[in-house]
Amino acid sequence: MGIISFMIMIMIISYIIVPPILASNSINVSESLSDGETLISAGGKFELGFFSPGNSVRRYLGIWYKQMPIQKVVWVANRVNPINNTLGILTLTTSGNLMLRQNDSLVWSTTTQKQAQKPMAELLDSGNLVIRNQDETDYLWQSFDYPCDTILPGMKLGWDLRNDLERRITSWKSPDDPSPGDLSWGLVLHNYPEFYLMNRTEKYCRLGPWNGLQFSGLSDRKQNSIYDFKYVANNDLNYVSNKDEMFYSFTLKNSSAFVSATIYQTNISIYVWEENNTNWLLTESTPLNSCESYGICGPYASCSTTKSPACQCLRGFIPKSTQQWALRDWSQGCVRNISLSCNNQQMDVDDELMKYVGLKVPDTTHTLLYENVDLELCRTMCLNNCSCTAFTNSDISGKGSGCVMWFGDLIDIRQFDTGGQDLYIRIARVVTEASNGRNKSVITIAATTAAAIFGMLLFCSYIIYKVRWRIADKSKIDDNIERHLEDLDLPLFDLQTITSATNNFSLNNKIGQGGFGSVYKGKLADGQEIAVKRLSTNSGQGITEFLTEVKLIAKLQHRNLVKLLGCCVGRQEKFLVYEYMANGSLDSFIFDKITDKLLEWPQRFEIIFGVARGLVYLHQDSRLRIIHRDLKASNVLLDHKLNPKISDFGMARSFGGDQIEGNTHRVVGTYGYMAPEYAIGGQFSIKSDVFSFGVLLLEIICGNKNSALYHGNETLNLVGYAWRVWKEGKALELIESRIKESCVVSEVLRCIHVSLLCVQQYPEDRPTMTSVIQMLGSDMELVEPKAPGFCQRKVSSDEESPNQNEISSNDELTITSLNGR
Ligand SMILES: *[C@@H]1O[C@H](CO)[C@@H](O)[C@H](O)[C@H]1NC(C)=O
Ligand SMILES: *[C@@H]1O[C@H](CO)[C@@H](O)[C@H](O)[C@H]1NC(C)=O
Ligand SMILES: *[C@@H]1O[C@H](CO)[C@@H](O)[C@H](O)[C@H]1NC(C)=O
Ligand SMILES: *[C@@H]1O[C@H](CO)[C@@H](O)[C@H](O)[C@H]1NC(C)=O
Ligand SMILES: *[C@@H]1O[C@H](CO)[C@@H](O)[C@H](O)[C@H]1NC(C)=O
Ligand SMILES: *[C@@H]1O[C@H](CO)[C@@H](O)[C@H](O)[C@H]1NC(C)=O
Ligand SMILES: *[C@@H]1O[C@H](CO)[C@@H](O)[C@H](O)[C@H]1NC(C)=O
Ligand SMILES: *[C@@H]1O[C@H](CO)[C@@H](O)[C@H](O)[C@H]1NC(C)=O
Ligand SMILES: *[C@@H]1O[C@H](CO)[C@@H](O)[C@H](O)[C@H]1NC(C)=O
Repeated sequence: MGIISFMIMIMIISYIIVPPILASNSINVSESLSDGETLISAGGKFELGFFSPGNSVRRYLGIWYKQMPIQKVVWVANRVNPINNTLGILTLTTSGNLMLRQNDSLVWSTTTQKQAQKPMAELLDSGNLVIRNQDETDYLWQSFDYPCDTILPGMKLGWDLRNDLERRITSWKSPDDPSPGDLSWGLVLHNYPEFYLMNRTEKYCRLGPWNGLQFSGLSDRKQNSIYDFKYVANNDLNYVSNKDEMFYSFTLKNSSAFVSATIYQTNISIYVWEENNTNWLLTESTPLNSCESYGICGPYASCSTTKSPACQCLRGFIPKSTQQWALRDWSQGCVRNISLSCNNQQMDVDDELMKYVGLKVPDTTHTLLYENVDLELCRTMCLNNCSCTAFTNSDISGKGSGCVMWFGDLIDIRQFDTGGQDLYIRIARVVTEASNGRNKSVITIAATTAAAIFGMLLFCSYIIYKVRWRIADKSKIDDNIERHLEDLDLPLFDLQTITSATNNFSLNNKIGQGGFGSVYKGKLADGQEIAVKRLSTNSGQGITEFLTEVKLIAKLQHRNLVKLLGCCVGRQEKFLVYEYMANGSLDSFIFDKITDKLLEWPQRFEIIFGVARGLVYLHQDSRLRIIHRDLKASNVLLDHKLNPKISDFGMARSFGGDQIEGNTHRVVGTYGYMAPEYAIGGQFSIKSDVFSFGVLLLEIICGNKNSALYHGNETLNLVGYAWRVWKEGKALELIESRIKESCVVSEVLRCIHVSLLCVQQYPEDRPTMTSVIQMLGSDMELVEPKAPGFCQRKVSSDEESPNQNEISSNDELTITSLNGR
């Protein structure tokens, strides 16, 4: 008897015994399920069959709760491939696979790898559709391994690493369309794995890693009496590192309740249906509040639902952009207020790992996990690797165990009022004692200590200043600007005027690019030419610097200073309006060998005098004591009569009274012009401007940049070279060939002599600008110069781009070679 006739016999028998509408909980190879028929689990909780979601007429094979008055579908087989009529049919093959067909075309099927003998498909009371051999309990396939948008008690969300199987849930596109939508929820296998809600490929919400007690990000969630979460990372005991399963699941405390967690297009929500209820009860939803939006505060900031503003920089960090921060745009986050010892050449600092409590730990993408390392060893390991930014226990249950270390920026941190966990974050601390054996700078220990103390004092007041701005909210800032501007009695241009004057900031009108923004040429309606400095929004120049600059420049009136005509504050941007300087900047005259722009010696001498007079005014004559801090050839502009005018006071800082020295953590300035004590120690004074003036003077005479190569000399810069030829008595070699004819040798020699006095290493040896003027303008005896500072060429410096030499607070200051003595 052939197998076919046997089968036919079976079918006949089954048709006699089993009624055509199945009320069974399973099908076998000889049976099928067509539209209109259903399987019902043994306990009557779940039902499998064909349905049409919402207002759709398309047919899907799915599983739903049997007893609910409102149909809630928990699983869909053919979610991407609907059947458009009622001719769908589900069958089981002898190889143990379910096949869903519409007429003869395959709509959906399972693929089991295991060997089937007498397979059957059964709907269990847990809502799991399984395929198994009739006499075995192991599953050949189960729907719980292929979740759709809902997890049920007993289901595992996460990874089966043995079979490389990820179980992740994805939202329905809409209530009418079960095909995969935007949001998904799954476990990402970082070294320290964690769950994310993803909006397609973007991180949308992070639940945080399992810390032994809970998900780090859900520390504020209430316990409930109906269900329990668990997170399992089963270890194969022989190979500790070889985890074979990692998943999240929940179990019912009370088996009489129905619980399901479903992901929608905007959230995951957990619903409970208790006995005798009439509707589903929402018990929790994620994201719950804006603090649960991924990375809302940017790096190194924490989000708190009870603080205002919600985002706060972590201790030891300051907003990257004070202005954006004040406007509640937190995306740029915070930065260290002192950079770490490993890349901090400005100060003598030491790293420590500071404890922060009550946190949701940051994103674990770049982490290392050591489950058998304790906290103390973890600290040591972290301290010894400069790229380690934080560490903590990986498991906080009991006394805590395991070690997790973070590398790179720390993002998506929350601050909880209660609960949360500890995190140790690497921050730098200024070393105030000179006796700790570290010798990082060439400055004497005493000077370092003094500088550090002074720096801290200054810094603190700076921080207080910053903090004041940080807490001010948007409207306050705007008010402040307006009030400041009223104080100044300065013309306030409107944005429309500026935009049309500069031809909508067209590239053709762009005449320069500085550290804090671009400069455009413009023409007002009345024909007056102006230069508009458009402050880049993401530059280091926040509102504070802006106001400083406006206030300072408005008060300064001197024929050797560029005049500020007014300013303009747009909604997002700030502009300064200056008088237009027809001849551009000095550097194009003295460094550009190609164009015909050439200054003869008498003009150069006038320019030197003009710049010196401008500096004397800044240093002594103005009511304020101004240190320019970024004097260089490109900051000296020439008007139509080639009168020099100093520009760009954006980085200047004013001092009242007799304060003549300061210290800052923000070294602003340009390499090659910076005095050694400023570049290394951040210590600035009028004498650091004198140093820059000395460099400028040499450049005007030689027509070469300080950082350029000299006569094939690989190591010396212009200052170093000038010093060498001066010592050899061949100073005239410095004079640029193009001006040799027009120059007055005694004047040039005098200028070289003065410039060498200006660039002496120690500030106290350098003359003031007043004596520079006297020395240049008379025949008085001059002292012999001592060795200059910074004689060596900075090897990595590139002259091509004007910005590359700029060092502002946003860049790390790296000094590759220090001065020889
Ligand atoms: C299929 O199931 C029916 C009823 O559940 C049963 O009578 C029949 O023997 C089964 N057939 C096979 C091949 O197992
Ligand atoms: C129904 O689906 C089949 C294939 O799945 C397709 O060829 C046919 O055009 C569809 N009919 C309608 C009315 O959408
Ligand atoms: C499906 O089969 C029915 C009858 O068996 C037929 O009328 C219909 O055209 C078929 N549809 C498709 C899309 O093949
Ligand atoms: C389960 O829930 C029912 C009704 O909600 C309640 O009466 C019963 O005490 C609960 N059982 C447990 C173990 O919590
Ligand atoms: C997901 O991203 C899309 C665009 O990429 C956006 O339109 C949608 O609103 C986002 N969804 C959520 C819940 O944010
Ligand atoms: C979750 O999302 C669904 C669909 O977008 C929405 O109907 C529901 O109100 C949301 N639940 C919560 C608690 O926000
Ligand atoms: C639910 O209703 C049944 C019958 O109405 C009643 O016997 C049972 O006590 C109710 N259960 C609860 C928890 O209220
Ligand atoms: C850095 O900032 C923290 C707080 O933001 C402050 O306590 C600390 O004094 C600052 N460091 C310095 C050197 O000012
Ligand atoms: C620090 O840790 C990172 C990440 O593991 C590693 O790539 C780097 O080599 C380590 N550096 C040192 C100095 O150990």
